[in-house]
Amino acid sequence: MESDVIIEAMIPEDIPAVLDIDADSFRVPWTPGLFEQELRCDFSRNLVARIDGGRGRTVIGYIVCWLVAEEMHVQTLAVRRDMRRRGIASRLVAEMMRFAHRAHVFEASLEVRRSNLAARELYEKFGFRVKGVRPAYYSDVGEDALIMAADVTPLSETGEQRSG
Ligand SMILES: CC(C)(COP(=O)(O)OP(=O)(O)OC[C@H]1O[C@@H](n2cnc3c(N)ncnc32)[C@H](O)[C@@H]1OP(=O)(O)O)[C@@H](O)C(=O)NCCC(=O)NCCS
Repeated sequence: MESDVIIEAMIPEDIPAVLDIDADSFRVPWTPGLFEQELRCDFSRNLVARIDGGRGRTVIGYIVCWLVAEEMHVQTLAVRRDMRRRGIASRLVAEMMRFAHRAHVFEASLEVRRSNLAARELYEKFGFRVKGVRPAYYSDVGEDALIMAADVTPLSETGEQRSG
């Protein structure tokens, strides 16, 4: 776990670094306009992870969620390739779960590619379980999306929920 990483709200100045990570992480990256829209959206909550890179703080990961009608939906999440497996995504998800819990949101959900074992394992640690399938949801290769959902509880903020 990186101790010098801080989690903060995303600001417009973060978007170029977020776009770099996004383009390197997804087959169908988001456009700048999509992130700009999220920052203006009332029900969207956007966080970045930063690390002190010597010349100021560098963005190394981000998460975008929607909070609508007592449900939180994870829209996107990624960590810079060279910073993976250090607990950064876990910190971002944990902070979102904490925020959701404080906002009296009781359920969290998301879609994930069936083949994305790294993300599926991460989400499972936060209590997410597969609740359904959207066949051929990802049109680039016709891959299924798994719909995962979790209860938002104080326990789910830690990523230590492993049974059920
Ligand atoms: C998925 C992703 C966000 C994980 O970020 P990360 O910062 O590396 O995740 P963490 O270090 O917090 O990992 C937490 C747990 O998730 C699981 N996990 C993460 N990466 C994994 C991998 N490559 N293989 C298997 N399990 C993995 C592990 O259980 C890990 O715990 P451990 O390191 O103690 O074994 C990152 O791999 C990524 O950006 N991928 C590309 C974008 C993406 O797929 N986003 C999700 C879209 S739904």
